Amino acid sequence: MSSTPTSAAPRALHLNAFILSTGHHEAAWRHPDVEPARALTLQHYVDIARTAERGLLDSVFFADGVALHGNVKHNTHSAFEPLTLLSALAASTTHVGLIATASTTYNHPYTLARAFASLDHLSGGRAGWNIVTSAGQDEAGNFGLKSRPDHEARYARATEFVQLAQALWDSFDDEAVIADKASGIYADTNLIAPINHKGEHFEVRGPLNIRRPVQGYPLLVQAGSSESGKEYAARFAEAVFTAQQTLEEAQEFYADLKARLAAHGRRPQDLLVLPGISPIIGRTEEEAKAKAAELNGLINPAYGLAQLSTMLDHELTEADLDGPLPPVAAGTEGNQSRKQLVLDLSAREGLTVRQLIERLAGGRGHRVFAGTAVQVADQIQGWFEEGAADGFNIMPPTLPAGLDDFVEQVVPELQRRGLFRTEYTSSTLREHYGLARPANPNLSRQHQRQHRQTDQDQTGRDHTDRDHTEQGQTEQDLTTKENAA
Ligand SMILES: Cc1cc2nc3c(=O)[nH]c(=O)nc-3n(C[C@H](O)[C@H](O)[C@H](O)COP(=O)(O)O)c2cc1C
Repeated sequence: MSSTPTSAAPRALHLNAFILSTGHHEAAWRHPDVEPARALTLQHYVDIARTAERGLLDSVFFADGVALHGNVKHNTHSAFEPLTLLSALAASTTHVGLIATASTTYNHPYTLARAFASLDHLSGGRAGWNIVTSAGQDEAGNFGLKSRPDHEARYARATEFVQLAQALWDSFDDEAVIADKASGIYADTNLIAPINHKGEHFEVRGPLNIRRPVQGYPLLVQAGSSESGKEYAARFAEAVFTAQQTLEEAQEFYADLKARLAAHGRRPQDLLVLPGISPIIGRTEEEAKAKAAELNGLINPAYGLAQLSTMLDHELTEADLDGPLPPVAAGTEGNQSRKQLVLDLSAREGLTVRQLIERLAGGRGHRVFAGTAVQVADQIQGWFEEGAADGFNIMPPTLPAGLDDFVEQVVPELQRRGLFRTEYTSSTLREHYGLARPANPNLSRQHQRQHRQTDQDQTGRDHTDRDHTEQGQTEQDLTTKENAA
């Protein structure tokens, strides 16, 4: 897919709120300010999404796995299926983008393409899809499999899956519905066509039974950082979530990912890199550090060991907490990049198992930073200006208070520095991120021109939005029918 920016705006900082139950710190639910039962109610998420919108954030994002994680004895779980939850949040918000995680391993492209098109229409163009291949071992058993498919097999299926979803979104053009009462023509069937896809994993006739999304496609987000994860991102993703511990690692990842885009006919600005940061914010540095210590004091080592075992794909529950990390072979069929990050962190800093658990407790490998709003803003600005990030995945340590702190203290500081928007100037998620609406490759330019003319004659409507967002497309782009079909 080629995308073209809608304007030559200056480089803008982007902020996405990564919302996880009671917060990202693994002991958040035990904190005195947190009410764990609230995380099982819609109101908890309505309040949080409205806070994100008050802070003018680009989007809120919900992670998901299709199994109850094995450690629910000691921690909360994400109760709600993200597309369902975000449909409810679409009605409680007006601007903030809504990014749902959905698996390409345990879904079917037709149902998922339809669900995302629905969310996009229902929210007025605010849907985003965090495309995951489901690296966890627990999920396979819920779908009749003995173990998760191998890493490469998951990415191969994810490739066909997303191409097929794109072909389905393109199969029912958004201008196909004419609803001309006088002639009795409801839809222009020249603009609706089957895709007749027969691939390695799927056979789908199409067309989709819903019009093309408001945004053309929902914003496509991805978070794999292995070699195949990065190649996948370079080909399809428009935003990438990533865990990076140090500025140098983040710069290397950023440069690597951006350099891969040209091979896919894309430009560096067509993909935004958003590392995670869990900011623990205090009025003073001492207060922030005390908050971090208070949270770490609530850690349950048994839970930490189980988490570490999952991240390293290596049984460690009997490990000596005060000894070094036992030898762990590199590589996994699960989450490759996170395993490497943990091994690197442990080796670089020579941590004991207990210290490693503590370092991972705040963000599961994402960067945790405790400081004042000014210090947090310094970190964000530094990474943004030094080639490490286009924005950040903000991971509040506790919810809702951690997001309140960020919106009330850090956002104004970023605005004072001229780094962040002071009002929403756009309405769709793609527009917030400065990304173009992809043209429908099934329509020739001539067809589009003719169609617009007919449409204007018949309804008097002028499709300036469509003209505007697709004006940068070349004739070749528009005539290419490069569907997965
Ligand atoms: C910020 C972030 C959020 C993620 N959210 C999910 C999720 O909700 N569900 C999921 O199955 N995987 C999630 N992942 C995992 C990735 O989709 C991917 O499986 C992982 O990064 C390993 O990919 P790799 O083996 O290519 O490195 C997330 C990763 C990151 C960095």
